[in-house]
Amino acid sequence: MLCLGIETSCDETAVALFENGRPVLEKLASQADLHAVFGGVVPELASREHLRRLGPLLQALFAQSGRSLADVDAIAVARGPGLLGSLLVGLAAAKGLSLATGKPLIGVDHLHAHLLAATIGREVAFPALGLLVSGGHTQIVRLDSALSLEVLGRTLDDAAGEAFDKAAKSFNLPYPGGVYIDVLGRGIAPDKTLFPRPFLDNDHLDFSFSGLKTAVASYAAAHPELRATSLAEAGGAINPEAWPMALRRACSSLNFAIADTLRIKFERALDRQPAPPASLIAAGGVAANGPIRAMLADLAARRGLPLYLPEPALCADNAVMIAAAGSRLAEAGYAHDLTLTAVPRGRKVPWDYSGGPAVRAASVDSASPAQ
Ligand code: KG4
Ligand code: ZN
Repeated sequence: MLCLGIETSCDETAVALFENGRPVLEKLASQADLHAVFGGVVPELASREHLRRLGPLLQALFAQSGRSLADVDAIAVARGPGLLGSLLVGLAAAKGLSLATGKPLIGVDHLHAHLLAATIGREVAFPALGLLVSGGHTQIVRLDSALSLEVLGRTLDDAAGEAFDKAAKSFNLPYPGGVYIDVLGRGIAPDKTLFPRPFLDNDHLDFSFSGLKTAVASYAAAHPELRATSLAEAGGAINPEAWPMALRRACSSLNFAIADTLRIKFERALDRQPAPPASLIAAGGVAANGPIRAMLADLAARRGLPLYLPEPALCADNAVMIAAAGSRLAEAGYAHDLTLTAVPRGRKVPWDYSGGPAVRAASVDSASPAQ
């Protein structure tokens, strides 16, 4: 099975071919530089960029892989949750290709695809307990199989990635700032009391990172000497040595606060499983974070469970994960017709495939008031 994947849900335009459990080739164009100057993604600009870049990326994908559209067995596309205008560009392209070739169209839940990225090229045992941490979502998910998910906890406001990005913005670091916080904090002992570990004083598995965002903003306002004076000063290759130690300690402390908050809720979810899961997985852009990966490795070792993390390039938005999820769905007989719709941020992606063995009872629930 050769599956084409198309990803246009936010600010990465990406296409990939995936065959028999392995990526063949991906072509990806990031819009990060375009949006950095605005300090966040501008939806209108993102849609226009997807429209401009998608066709040439597809041409390059086929030219460089030596495959042609006629070789493709299924066409998978991210259908949401994401920026509506951006999703529509990918969906329109996928529908056109499906119509032209007669090959099945498969709308993929972007969050489901993030989680399955951890299984690419591996024999992951199920049930698995998953931690999904991205710019728009923070969820604890139980996967009874690769195609059966139940959300156990979610963020009630900001996602972990948003907390990283807003904190970075408070220090005048470029967007998206998560990687700056990660790299600047590396090798520096955190002050574990500098920032709160938010929303732990309760009994459930949900998250809330908005209080942490405010705490970091207040700290940055009280220490203006730590702020980069201009984006130009902050931009370019990240050289940690060039930054004040107090800022690097703040970054390390923030990393600790977020990683430890995730750890506490993830372990709580683990303890509440009727029986220990067969594996742990984590995915999403924030799963590229050094201290979070180290925290998860430690947790897995303590619990004696295998841990599966995507390689960093597959943590962020990409089309390999869409093609990989599309392959699994296509192989199970699931498909969509040409009425397939996009799902905006904050909406639950319905499990509305036709075909397949059975309609899945629970689907990934992306509902969150902040999206
Ligand atoms: O999954 P993703 O690429 O896009 C969404 O679906 O949201 O995640 C993007 C998020 C951004 O908030 C970005 O700052 C964060 O992932 N991120 C990181 C790191 N790399 C990316 N956060 C912390 N540490 C990193 N190394
Ligand atoms: Zn994503």
